[in-house]
Amino acid sequence: VKPKTKSPTSKTTTSMTSTSTAVLPDDAALLGDQLARWFAGAARDLPWRTDRTPYRVWLSEVMLQQTRVAVVVDYFLRFVTRFPDVGALAAASEDDVLGLWSGLGYYSRGRNLHRAARVVATAHGGQFPSTREALRALPGVGDYTSAAIASLAFGEAVAVVDGNVHRVLMRLCADETPIDTPAGAAKTTMRASALVTSSSTPATINEGLMELGALVCTPRSPSCGSCPWRFSCRAYAHHTPEQYPVKARRTARKALRVACVVVVDGSGRVWLEKRAARGLFGGLWEPPGQIVDVVDDDMTVSARVTDTWHALLVARRIEANLAGVAPVVVTRTLTHRDLRFDVVVARVVGEVDPSGSDGVGRWFARDELHSVGTSTAVRAVFDAALGEVHSPRLV
Ligand code: ADE
Repeated sequence: VKPKTKSPTSKTTTSMTSTSTAVLPDDAALLGDQLARWFAGAARDLPWRTDRTPYRVWLSEVMLQQTRVAVVVDYFLRFVTRFPDVGALAAASEDDVLGLWSGLGYYSRGRNLHRAARVVATAHGGQFPSTREALRALPGVGDYTSAAIASLAFGEAVAVVDGNVHRVLMRLCADETPIDTPAGAAKTTMRASALVTSSSTPATINEGLMELGALVCTPRSPSCGSCPWRFSCRAYAHHTPEQYPVKARRTARKALRVACVVVVDGSGRVWLEKRAARGLFGGLWEPPGQIVDVVDDDMTVSARVTDTWHALLVARRIEANLAGVAPVVVTRTLTHRDLRFDVVVARVVGEVDPSGSDGVGRWFARDELHSVGTSTAVRAVFDAALGEVHSPRLV
């Protein structure tokens, strides 16, 4: 939405003079007041905004990294119902935690969540540390999460910078510094810090910035007409909000092709194996699969896929005839990967005990598949191969 009017020119009293480095286009305390007033009227009623314990702030902020609010709400409610406090989470098994995390993506978050809960339970007597520096020592708690917990749960006047905050502040200042560079990161942090340290309610400033980015100052078609900062915003004045933020690099994705066999036994159970704890999808369950290297020889990729299916079965001493079975293809785009699964269903006769595989494997009944820790990609593989037995929990 292109702004129809230019901002008034009469608001120059504090313009670019609030500090010697001209951090913000208006007085930080004034901008903070405007933001806090807007937040009081516009903030969404989200479950982690009530009963604001450090545990609930931590859990929600870890989930909200990389995942949309609408998706997180359901997962958050399920987590706090099953694990109402950090002690309950620490007492759970990793399989249970990853099972509940299933479908949220970025599974190292779920593994670190569980490890951090155990550290809080054992080394801190079940109480979260209350300073940013102490929080940062917990597994999976970095710059962002430590700042978010310190600010939102403990009121520390520290800037919480996520993608929303970058966008809002780069637009406010019409700043073309790429946000994926140290200079861009430093500028946003400096501006957000100026706002939070000038306010008596730093938590509201941090959350207000994120909320403004989520509701008004959106990546496309921002609603500048309802923005509390429209008369200070440089990008609005220039009719160019969508030109910010600038990024230096585009994300390069690596193409991965995986040959995958969904093994089903005579009673309809599905054979799954657990991945090693570290790396992509670590600790999650999946059907036997292997990356098919695209190498430069005379074998076509599809012949290599077929070969790999057979090799996967042979390695587990599973006898199945794949001739005449129609394969299905499932694709998934992750931040750094383009995944393609070539999937075939192998129906084995009677009771079978696959052996000889590297991973830890076992049979799962169909009705167990929805609660086991799997990636969204593997859920899609189940759906495609087994016919919607495993539709995602979230629509
Ligand atoms: N994104 C990350 N944290 C958030 C929060 N506390 N409120 C709204 N959006 C967010």
